[in-house]
Amino acid sequence: MNCWAIILAAGSGTRLAEAGLATRKQFLELEGLPLFWHSALTFAHVARISGLVFVFPPEEFDAAKASTEALLAQYPLNLPCRFAQGGIRRQDSVFNGLEALPADCLQVLVHDSARPFASARLSNTLIDTLGSGAEAAIPAIPVKDTIKRISGSTVAETLPRAELCAVQTPQAFILAMLRKAHEFCQQNQIAVTDDASMVEAMGGSVAIVPGEEDNIKITTPEDLKMLTPKQTPAIPVT
Ligand code: CTP
Ligand code: MG
Repeated sequence: MNCWAIILAAGSGTRLAEAGLATRKQFLELEGLPLFWHSALTFAHVARISGLVFVFPPEEFDAAKASTEALLAQYPLNLPCRFAQGGIRRQDSVFNGLEALPADCLQVLVHDSARPFASARLSNTLIDTLGSGAEAAIPAIPVKDTIKRISGSTVAETLPRAELCAVQTPQAFILAMLRKAHEFCQQNQIAVTDDASMVEAMGGSVAIVPGEEDNIKITTPEDLKMLTPKQTPAIPVT
């Protein structure tokens, strides 16, 4: 099965910009390399991934493409790479990424470049799940906190925690199913925050695989701590 990965790096990082960050988070450095590149390195370790699509903001497209090509020259991934311009909403960026896939692609992983710590093993598990017949597969972890639905500044309802989970990317799909789901959501003007929601909206079934606790999404200023090398606490000399 020809499987490609779409690396989404076209967001504006509004929540970090509001806190004063001038660079879009996907271009911040982690271990001397841009954040989005870490996802490319991980996917390069997944034997069943046959190619990558990088989705960059239209305003910074040429520069981002050129710097990715320079990285590819320096660290060849031995994978075909394509580029697409992002859209206003995340789902528009995904749509543009899907348009850039080759005609023989049958499966796709969609990944937030703001999640640089996802493992290659997670992608393998997702691809295995598609191989066992699922049309969509996503990583999920149990929620630790009690989750309440609120109405204004009061609690409306406490949700049953055992039935709740937090979902991550990459999310894996049979490509034809995800394309159909995009068409359905476009026709019905359905806005979503992850790709599986589109399949769900269409009444499709989404399989769950165990997510990873450290597969966090860099979203707010507190998360930036995850990008700086860990300080080893000094051992007091006695
Ligand atoms: N993304 C994208 N195109 C968009 C919006 C988001 O490619 N129009 C990507 C982001 O680059 C990110 C991932 O989708 O890797 C998850 O989105 P999010 O964490 O919400 O990032 P931003 O939208 O950039 O941040 P914010 O919501 O704070 O503006
Ligand atoms: Mg966003």
